Amino acid sequence: MVTLDLFFFLSDVVIKGVTILAPLHSPNTDGIDPDSSTNVCIEDCYIESGDDLVAVKSGWDQFGTSVARPSSNIVIRRLSGTTPTCSGVGIGSEMSGGVSDVLVEDLHVRDSATAVRIKTDRGRGGYILNITIRGVAMERVRVPIRFSRGANDHPDGAYDRSALPRVSRIEISDVVGVGVEKAPVLEGLEGARFEGVCMRNVSLRGISPPAEWRCEYVAGEAVDVFPTPCEALRRGGSGCARGGGTPG
Ligand SMILES: *[C@@H]1O[C@H](CO)[C@@H](O)[C@H](O)[C@H]1NC(C)=O
Ligand SMILES: *[C@@H]1O[C@H](CO)[C@@H](O)[C@H](O)[C@H]1NC(C)=O
Repeated sequence: MVTLDLFFFLSDVVIKGVTILAPLHSPNTDGIDPDSSTNVCIEDCYIESGDDLVAVKSGWDQFGTSVARPSSNIVIRRLSGTTPTCSGVGIGSEMSGGVSDVLVEDLHVRDSATAVRIKTDRGRGGYILNITIRGVAMERVRVPIRFSRGANDHPDGAYDRSALPRVSRIEISDVVGVGVEKAPVLEGLEGARFEGVCMRNVSLRGISPPAEWRCEYVAGEAVDVFPTPCEALRRGGSGCARGGGTPG
């Protein structure tokens, strides 16, 4: 079975027990994309795809800004699958209407490029706020956790270069990875640092030494994280104290 699910402007949706098998090397085959949608629950799904398994979005640059329909209150749990080129769960990169209050629990990603990715870009505006990701198991993943500032990908040349996204309160905890190739890459945007990042109880094995994280324009805290995280998460930032949704 090959299906492609994309939905816009929906609320109060449950997607449960769905299997999606898209060609592994075909681009733009995202599994499930809640876009400008609220109160969405995606659970017990298995997805194989050449793109993100699940991607939460809310509109692209000036179009997303003018429509201004956020995605919020999204629960994704017991999702498993593989994507050799993209991520298990992605937030963005089209997020100009804002994305908030996303809970991802029990994610299992194998033989993939990335498990968790948060992506945005200059010109997007909007926000990514209060994202909680806990209970991630991964095997044979290239970059386990990636925050990225886009590849200069815009619908046309009319985007506002001063429209910077606000990214804050991203908590990622209880992560186990084996056969991981690289340390996390956390790259925020110049002038729009990603704030309040919390990593807790994260163990990523298999990375060849020196296993250095790449971090830029990001601030937060790391507790019980292996391999040793970058300076930006070690300076005693308060990401974990203010994390959304979990005690402690
Ligand atoms: C953050 O999101 C979670 C759902 O993932 C929600 O339960 C919690 O109330 C939110 N926190 C704030 C401060 O809005
Ligand atoms: C750390 O995460 C692992 C994997 O999710 C979990 O089994 C373990 O109980 C967690 N440890 C603590 C102290 O929360």
